[in-house]
Amino acid sequence: MTTTTTTTTSTTTSTADAPATPRVDLTELVEFTAAVFRHHGLPAERALTAAQALVHGDLTGITSHGLTNLTRLYLKLFEDGRCDPAAEPEVLADRGAAVLLDAHRALGLWSASEAVDLAAERALQYGVGLVSVRDATHLGCAGAHAKRAADRGMICLLVSNCGQQRIIRPPGGQAALLGTNPLAFAAPAGARPPLVLDMSTTVVPTGRVRGAARAGQPIPEGWLEDKDGQPVTDPHALDRGDGYLKWLGGDPATGAFKGYGLGLLVEVLGALLPGAGLGPATEAWSGSGSPSGQDDNIGFTVLVVAPAELRPREDFEAQTAGMFDALVGSPAVDEDRPVRYPGWFEAERATEHGKSGVPLSAALFEELVAVAAERGLTAPKALEGSPAQDT
Ligand SMILES: NC(=O)c1ccc[n+]([C@@H]2O[C@H](COP(=O)([O-])OP(=O)(O)OC[C@H]3O[C@@H](n4cnc5c(N)ncnc54)[C@H](O)[C@@H]3O)[C@@H](O)[C@H]2O)c1
Repeated sequence: MTTTTTTTTSTTTSTADAPATPRVDLTELVEFTAAVFRHHGLPAERALTAAQALVHGDLTGITSHGLTNLTRLYLKLFEDGRCDPAAEPEVLADRGAAVLLDAHRALGLWSASEAVDLAAERALQYGVGLVSVRDATHLGCAGAHAKRAADRGMICLLVSNCGQQRIIRPPGGQAALLGTNPLAFAAPAGARPPLVLDMSTTVVPTGRVRGAARAGQPIPEGWLEDKDGQPVTDPHALDRGDGYLKWLGGDPATGAFKGYGLGLLVEVLGALLPGAGLGPATEAWSGSGSPSGQDDNIGFTVLVVAPAELRPREDFEAQTAGMFDALVGSPAVDEDRPVRYPGWFEAERATEHGKSGVPLSAALFEELVAVAAERGLTAPKALEGSPAQDT
C-alpha cells in the first residue's frame, strides 16, 4: 500500500488527532475484540474476521462504526438472542455465478466478509460473482468487507439494507420507511490505496447523530428535519422520534431524489433480491402495526467482478494506473489539499495507526477495560506515552 504524508481532509468522524487519546497496538486490539467475540460463542476464525471488520472503523477513522458499537450494538444483539454467534449459513440457491444464502442471524461482521470472499471465488471462475444474503445482522462498515475484493485485484459492490428499521421518509412523505442503507464500492487503484467509497445513502448514518448526542453537541443543520421539513439541530430528536434523517442530497431541489434513489437501489438489490425484511411496509403508515421496526432480518448483496478474467490483466492495470495518475496528479484549487479519492485518507490513517497504535477516545477505552473485566478477559493496554497510561 502506498503511503504519503498528505494532510488528512476527510469528513469522517476521526478522533485520530484529538489530544488525550489513548492508543492501543493494532494486533492487541484485534486480538482483544476477537476474544470478546469468542467469549460470546463465535468460533475462533470467525471471531478474528469479525474483529478485523469492527476495528477497521477505528483504524481508518470511521469511528461512528468502530468499537463504539461493541457494547451498544453487537453485545446487545448476542444478549437479546437477535444474533446467533454459531449460526451456519444455509445455501438456498447456487447457480455458479450467483448464490443465495440464509445467514440464520449469524454475525454480519463475519458473514459479510465471508460473502465477499465467496463472491470473489466465483468471480475468478465466471468473471462475476454475486452473493445475496437474507436474515443477516449488522455488518458495520460496509467498506471493510468490500475492500477485501479490491485487495485481490477485483471490483466489488456491497449494499445492505437495515431490515425493518424505518427512520427516513421518502421525499414528500409523512411516514419513515427506510433505513440508512449503506453502500460500498471498492476497486484496485494500482500501487495506490484502493478506491473505497463507503457511505450511508442518507446524509449521515445514525451513528454520527448519536455520537453528537453522547458528546452533548448540537448537529449541523441539514442532518435532521422535523415532521414539517424544518431543520433540527438537537441530536436527541432522532431517538425521540421527532427528528428524521435527510437523504444524501438534502432537499428535492438539491438532489434528495438521488440519495433516495440510491436508498431504494440498496433496498431492492440488498433485501428484495434475497427476500430479507423490507423497510417499506403498509403497516408503517396504516396504523395496523409498529411503525418503526427493528433492524432484524437484514439483507445484503455482494457483487464482485474479476477484470482479469475478462481482459488482459496488464491492460486493465495499465489503464487503472493512468486513471488514478490523472486524478491525483490533477491541479488542486489549494496546493495544500491535493486531489484525492474515497479510501485514500482511510488508508493513510490505517498505515499511521498500524505503526503508532489505534486511537480510542478515553471513554471508549474505559468501556473496553470494563468489557474485559466483566468477562475475565485481559484488557487492552494503552501504549506508553498515551494518556490512559497516567490514569
Ligand atoms: N451497517 C449499517 O447499517 C450502516 C449504515 C449506515 C452507514 N454505515 C457505515 O457508516 C460508515 C460511515 O458512513 P458515512 O456516510 O458517514 O461516510 P462519510 O460521509 O464519512 O464518507 C463517505 C465517503 O466519502 C469519502 N470521503 C469523505 N471525505 C473525503 C475527502 N476529503 N476526500 C476523499 N474522500 C472523502 C470517504 O472515503 C467515504 O468513502 C461507513 O463505513 C458505512 O458503511 C453502516
